[in-house]
Formats: sequence, C-alpha cells, structure tokens
Amino acid sequence: MNPLDKSLCLRGSAIAPPLFCAPMAGVTHSAYRRLVADFRGYGALFTEMLSARAVCSENLMTSPFTKRRPVEGAVFYQVRFTGTENISQTIEKLSSLEPFGIDVNLGCPAPEIRKGGGGIELFNDRARLARVLESVRRRWKGILTVKCRLGKRSETWQENFADRLKIIGECGIDAITVHPRFSDEKLKRKARWDLFPWIVSQTKLPVIANGDIVDATAPALGLLESGGCKGLMIGRMAVVKPWIFREFTGASEKVDYRDVWTRFYEYTLEDFRPEKAIGRIKEFTAYFSRNFIYGHELFRKVQSAPDLAALKSRAVDFLLASPAVEKEPSVMGI
Ligand SMILES: Cc1cc2nc3c(=O)[nH]c(=O)nc-3n(C[C@H](O)[C@H](O)[C@H](O)COP(=O)(O)O)c2cc1C
Repeated sequence: MNPLDKSLCLRGSAIAPPLFCAPMAGVTHSAYRRLVADFRGYGALFTEMLSARAVCSENLMTSPFTKRRPVEGAVFYQVRFTGTENISQTIEKLSSLEPFGIDVNLGCPAPEIRKGGGGIELFNDRARLARVLESVRRRWKGILTVKCRLGKRSETWQENFADRLKIIGECGIDAITVHPRFSDEKLKRKARWDLFPWIVSQTKLPVIANGDIVDATAPALGLLESGGCKGLMIGRMAVVKPWIFREFTGASEKVDYRDVWTRFYEYTLEDFRPEKAIGRIKEFTAYFSRNFIYGHELFRKVQSAPDLAALKSRAVDFLLASPAVEKEPSVMGI
C-alpha cells in the first residue's frame, strides 16, 4: 500500500493525502496557493506566518496573505504569537475566515522575529509557550497545530525538545510539524531525517515531517513507513514545482512551463497592487527558474527587470524558446 493512501485525521477531519505545502513568508500568499490548487494532489496548504497584530488590524477577506478561494480546499493559517498580543481578538478575527486549522509558529529563526519573542524564542521559553498555547487552545476549538525546529543546539537539546513535546501535547495541540534542524542552522545543512523515529517515540501527537523532501522516492516515503510520521510537508520544491503534489500521488505531469509562469503572473496581479506584485513575482521566479538548465538566465533577467512589463516580456521570451529542462531541479542555495 502506498503510505500516501492513508489519510491523517485531525478532530474528525481527514487530510488526504497527508501532504502539506509548507508556510513560506513572501511565497504562500493567495496567488501562489491558487496556482498550487490548480494542480491539486495535496491534503492541505498553509498561509505564510501572520503576525497576530496584523490579523487584528487587516481586512482578512481582501489581504493576499489571508484571502482564500474555495478551490484551495483545506488551508491552515499560521500565526506568530509572542504572548503580548490580544489572543482572543486574534482568534475571533481568524474564525471569521472559517480556517481548516490554525498553526502556531514555533520555529522561525529570523532575528527580527526572535527579538520580538516569537518563533523559536517562544519554543525556548517553556512557561510562556505553555501559557500561549493554552490560551489559543481555550479560544479555538478547531484543528490546532504547531510547527517547530529542534530548538537550541546544546548538550541537553534532546531533553529540552522532549520537554517541549510534552508541553505541546498537554496543551491539547492536534499535530506537530517538525523541521529537524537546530535554530541556528541554515537550509544548506541537511535536515536530520534520522531523528524522526526518536521524535515520534517522544509524543502521542501525529508528527508531520518537513525539511528537504523533494520527491516521492523511497527515503521520503520511508519517513511515513519506518519513520512513523503521519504526513509530509514540502516547502521550497513546491515553489520550484507547484505541481509536485500530483507527482507524489503518482500522476505524471506534462508541464507547460510558460502557462504555469504566466498564470502565476496573472494571479499575482489580481491579488496584489502592481508595486507589491513585482517583488512577489521575482521571488517566485527565483525558485521556478530552477526547472531549467540555464535557469540562471531567467533568474538574472527577471531580477533586474525595472517594471512589470519588462519582467513579463523577459520571462515569456525565455520560456517561449523551449529552454532545456533540468530533470532533477535542486533548491540548494536559494
Ligand atoms: C522563503 C521561505 C520562507 C519561509 N517562511 C516560513 C514561515 O512563514 N513559517 C514557517 O513556519 N516556516 C517558514 N519557512 C520554513 C519552511 O516552512 C520549511 O520549514 C523549510 O523551508 C524546510 O522545508 P523544505 O526543505 O521543504 O523547503 C520558510 C522557508 C523559506 C525558504
């Protein structure tokens, strides 16, 4: 049996297949989610990390960070809490969107997020972590998950990590995504897949594996089988290949690269003002260009485009010339 045939059931709702598109700041906005949804094949998508304060102040129905189309299906809204915000108001506001689930970010290592006490800093501070998770759990009765890294690298990291898993379990969280890198590790270093059996043994919660999953070959599927994980989450490679989830479920995809890129361009302009759209399109293209042997040319031409018209004509010219496709694109160094 293909391990992806097993759904992950959280609070009575099935996620099938148990494949997730990772939250990625600057990337998993409404236009990108719409594009991924065109290909289907996933169980659930994530928004990018939203600050609780922004949730309270923005119009969630129109903001491209939170807006959702029916075609997307199950979407988790990922929120960064520090414990200083109005959690009731945040949850009340998010509830108006009827999220499939809410996810609390416990892994972001970015210095500006750490300075504010969010992401990995919340994970590190056990008392504040318990207080915040209990408070969110009390107010949100739906699916509540967390996403974390391994925490601070130290001789006692395993003890600390197991302790945090215990707190997370006691707070009534429904599932946990683990990206097995320490808080100070960049994406260059390999994710520590060998730790998943141990991580799974430390908690009763379903564990979703994340980090360097790029195809449905035996090692990745092994995270579900021998590794004991209940789901797989894909980040960067799902930006290179927004159709990747269909590949995981066995469909062979004949890709029209120009059509995919142009659709992303149009979707982005529908949801963002032009001055904001240009940055989002450049960011997506940095990943998408990895599909081509000479993709650095596409990357370079698009990054230096002064405006949207130049950007589009440069990208379309490149894609119309039937560029040679990279069989196994890589996300190294992005
Ligand atoms: C551009 C970018 C933005 C990210 N933003 C977030 C975020 O908002 N929330 C989060 O939990 N993780 C974020 N991450 C981490 C990813 O969700 C994921 O854990 C990481 O990329 C490893 O998975 P991958 O090897 O499949 O890319 C981000 C990663 C990237 C590359």
